[in-house]
Amino acid sequence: MQKSKIDVILGIQWGDEGKGKIVDVLAPRYDIIARFQGGPNAGHTIKFGGATHVLHTIPSGIFHEGKVNVIGNGVLVDACIFCREIAELRQAGVEPRRRMKISDKAHLILPTHRMLDAALEQRKGARKIGSTVKGIGPAYTDKTARCGLRMGDIFSTDFTRKYRELKEEHLSQLAHYGFDAESALIDQMPWQEYEKQWLAGIEELRGFEVVSTEFYLDEAMRQGKKILAEGAQGTLLDVDFGSYPFVTSSSTVTAGVCVGLGVPPSAIGKVYGIFKAYCTRVGSGPFPTELDDETGETLRRNGHEFGATTGRSRRTGWLDLPALRYTLMVNGITDLVMMKADVMDDFPVLKVAESYRMDGKRVENYPDTETAENVEPVYVEMPGWQRPLSGIRDYAALPAAFKAYVEYIGKNTGLDIKMISVGPDREETIMNA
Ligand code: GDP
Ligand code: IMO
Ligand code: MG
Repeated sequence: MQKSKIDVILGIQWGDEGKGKIVDVLAPRYDIIARFQGGPNAGHTIKFGGATHVLHTIPSGIFHEGKVNVIGNGVLVDACIFCREIAELRQAGVEPRRRMKISDKAHLILPTHRMLDAALEQRKGARKIGSTVKGIGPAYTDKTARCGLRMGDIFSTDFTRKYRELKEEHLSQLAHYGFDAESALIDQMPWQEYEKQWLAGIEELRGFEVVSTEFYLDEAMRQGKKILAEGAQGTLLDVDFGSYPFVTSSSTVTAGVCVGLGVPPSAIGKVYGIFKAYCTRVGSGPFPTELDDETGETLRRNGHEFGATTGRSRRTGWLDLPALRYTLMVNGITDLVMMKADVMDDFPVLKVAESYRMDGKRVENYPDTETAENVEPVYVEMPGWQRPLSGIRDYAALPAAFKAYVEYIGKNTGLDIKMISVGPDREETIMNA
């Protein structure tokens, strides 16, 4: 039997495109759903049956009976946040232990990583990244510095010593930064209390199946099983291709699937690029099409653009085609999925940035961070559809002005839009192929 391929879902803007919803919608077509990078900085929202669920570490296939959800080696796990997610799932009637495998090579976020994240942000002052303060940067730093703790370590008889040593190292770094660790809070509680919950979380994690998931996935592909890789964040937050340094610390692009799950490049099948019909960004960094006006406020209000992880207000702006073309290129996107156009139902006119200009000249390629802060978007205007989209399930029944918007994006990206989401619920989805 020929080995099966791994399909990929990833965000191609600045995160929060709606990846969680689409993974949940497509999960019935797959046997295994695997997260390959990021950690609890992610907030993936899923709505069905009148309930809303937000996942941070756990893959978005978890609500489907009979599917295996894998937390890959590229993911970071905070034992405390993980346990909260588990408790919420159990409350919703889902027992995740039977549906999940965790890589023994996934790194742990320690409570002191979270304090380091806060201390480093504080030191940056006005140039702060706007991190989610979940400890992502410091934990990936320890991974590459080869001093991190991994899931496999929690079974070692030496774990307590290893934990204590790394914690002490972090506390001395914090003292060096002049950070008052003694009275620091994490999630509004004294950090010592957070540490207690974290250690209880480690105990809970010991009850999960922690294995070398690269072997599991290889065997699954040999058996022809269908695998869907779930990305977190978005390409414009990628540590290499995003607007550095205003990025996250992992590879959010398709190539990240290979290192984050231990699968070869030849195993990659379809790559779904998820994008909003407009743009949002949380945290600092360039955002060429940002709207600081009433229209931006309307997008925020209609789209409920407040972070699923931090509750922060998201910055909003028009769709940015130069950025999109760049992210399609670095990811090798094969299928586009457009989200949240319903947020603009009432707009009489929509704008789309077709290109950028700087000093009177067209900027050809997607620019570096400094240039991106200074470019001027060149907009085309399109008529709005001024009809509610959310009840529509059939492409043919969509308003002509909306179809023109979809076709225009298709023409400018060279790709067809294969799925259109017209509301947050599972059911509010149109298959266009
Ligand atoms: P993710 O991080 O990419 O999974 O996205 P988030 O969950 O952070 O943010 C997407 C938000 O938009 C969530 O609140 C979703 O419930 C919501 N959402 C997803 N698709 C649609 C859509 O088509 N229309 C509307 N109005 N909301 C959507
Ligand atoms: P999902 O998976 C949107 C942003 C933060 C900050 C930068 C670095 O829900 O799309 P970090 O905590 O990673 O050090 O923060 O990245 N960021 C996200 N923005 N969605 C996310 O995840 C994000 N994860 C991180 O706001 O600007
Ligand atoms: Mg999110």
